[in-house]
Amino acid sequence: MSNFDYALATQQNPRPLAGDGCTPFRISGGPRAVMASAHALETAMNDTSSRPLIVGIGGAARPLSSSETALRLALQSAEQYGARTELFGGTELTALPHYLGHEDVGDMGRRLLTAIRAADGVMIASPAYHGSISGLVKNAIDYIEATARDSRAYLDGLPVGLIVCAYGWQATGSTLTALRSIVHALRGWPTPFGAGLNTSSGIFKDGVCTDLRAAAQLELVGRQVAEFAETQRAKAKTTLHAGVGA
Ligand SMILES: Cc1cc2nc3c(=O)[nH]c(=O)nc-3n(C[C@H](O)[C@H](O)[C@H](O)COP(=O)(O)O)c2cc1C
Repeated sequence: MSNFDYALATQQNPRPLAGDGCTPFRISGGPRAVMASAHALETAMNDTSSRPLIVGIGGAARPLSSSETALRLALQSAEQYGARTELFGGTELTALPHYLGHEDVGDMGRRLLTAIRAADGVMIASPAYHGSISGLVKNAIDYIEATARDSRAYLDGLPVGLIVCAYGWQATGSTLTALRSIVHALRGWPTPFGAGLNTSSGIFKDGVCTDLRAAAQLELVGRQVAEFAETQRAKAKTTLHAGVGA
């Protein structure tokens, strides 16, 4: 049994996902370090509506790209498993200048970094370009370097779901491996199941995934990121609670 068959076998009723986009989201929190006070802890403990934030980065310059559609569907799955989401798709990624390492990262750069700093989990979706990730997606990832001196550096401790779209199978593997290596370098935790989608037969139509197995892959990525993020948040709250009570 392949990894994917095994993953599917452990899921009940995988369902196709309709791509009606992600819920617009306004960031209300700051880095988790901000929570390290009794007041912040009390607020967090009393806020039963608070849900983990999953930030999606991915897509291509053209509208309705397969990688952005796939990312939207995986984010939608994460929402179904209790997360709130923010998407940085093709429009946002093309608005990011080349990352130059300057302190002034511009409006979109600031928006991206604010979201990353508030994130409880991340998803990255890239088309396969010449067997690896696209420059557009890598440029967005480069901005994460600006968090190197944060109390939570890079993607430290965060679950990161990965999605690759390619016009064949070979590049799905090499591109997924490249993404996993990048996430490891950023101290993130690639979630166990990465989605490798072969788009050559046309698996997306009007924002909907018409291939049941591909849709199940995206649902699984969303579920694993949302569940791991929730587990990590619960653990952080318990740790803070113990610290305040001591
Ligand atoms: C510059 C470029 C390089 C590509 N390289 C590959 C490749 O090496 N292997 C592959 O299977 N598909 C390759 N493709 C095809 C895309 O990966 C594929 O069509 C993907 O679904 C596009 O995703 P998008 O709709 O998000 O742009 C390439 C496409 C472009 C534009």
